Amino acid sequence: MAGCRQRKDIMENSETVTAAFNLSGRVAVVTGAGSGLGQASAEILAGAGATVICGDVNDERAQETATSIRSTGGSAESVGVDVSDEYAHHLLLDAALSHGRLDIWVNSAGIMAEAQVLDLKAADLDALMNVNVKGTLFGAQTAGRHMAEHGGGSIINMASGAMQMPSPDIAAYAMTKASVVQMTRIMALEIGKRGVRVNAVAPGFVPTSMTSRYYQRPDGSIDEEMKAAVLTPMAKMAPLKRVGEPRDIGFAVLYLASDASSFLTGQVLSPNGGVVMV
Ligand SMILES: NC(=O)c1ccc[n+]([C@@H]2O[C@H](COP(=O)([O-])OP(=O)(O)OC[C@H]3O[C@@H](n4cnc5c(N)ncnc54)[C@H](O)[C@@H]3O)[C@@H](O)[C@H]2O)c1
Repeated sequence: MAGCRQRKDIMENSETVTAAFNLSGRVAVVTGAGSGLGQASAEILAGAGATVICGDVNDERAQETATSIRSTGGSAESVGVDVSDEYAHHLLLDAALSHGRLDIWVNSAGIMAEAQVLDLKAADLDALMNVNVKGTLFGAQTAGRHMAEHGGGSIINMASGAMQMPSPDIAAYAMTKASVVQMTRIMALEIGKRGVRVNAVAPGFVPTSMTSRYYQRPDGSIDEEMKAAVLTPMAKMAPLKRVGEPRDIGFAVLYLASDASSFLTGQVLSPNGGVVMV
């Protein structure tokens, strides 16, 4: 009898656990969904059952992500948007609401520029601020206002390990990511009582279009030898002995998007192989 009860508990538990990560019937917006971490996040949220609005300034890449999600039985559409344009976010919101609701908003669109502090040009700083800070802020505002009025939701901002680790040569990028984290915490404090959770993900190094600059030839092709020379020491240095994969970040996003993280807000989740520990 006791054995039967235990078995039933296990079955109930497994259903509860699956339900906590199930996003069926939910609608998500993902910016930067045309590539890298945004693409993986969009695909994983769709894999968990969400309808995903894939936003990207590269309309074609956003379409490819949405098409690939639909080709595997998921639900997705794409919208070409420049996140630094405040009003473009309403296009994403409208696309979500055409599916009846908005539950999840992932701000993954981002850019990087390299310069030491002494050489940093105002124009480069402006570009990074426009996309990484204002683009994230406008997305979070658009989502937050709607979610606060309509029963809550989860906003996830893509930060970076660079937000806390002084990183030579990417000063402006690191500054924008530190800003994203502080924005996340303040917003979480301000709208938690209205059912909106706001968290950040601070990934470690993941090979994507953004980071391939470290092993790209001038014509844009990948130099495999240089790639190995860059990635091997990074992997060696990491406690988990590898660099990240886009899906590592997508699964962190899934956790923050799902009911499994319903007691979590204002936090920074750091899928980084243990490279930075706080
Ligand atoms: N790859 C990494 O190692 C890493 C580590 C930490 C944080 N991040 C952050 O993760 C996010 C995604 O990076 P990624 O590595 O996937 O880069 P990526 O270059 O592969 O993808 C970024 C996407 O954002 C889009 N985008 C750029 N500017 C935009 C704009 N103004 N409006 C709309 N879309 C725009 C690009 O077209 C691209 O599809 C970024 O915010 C980045 O800073 C990446």
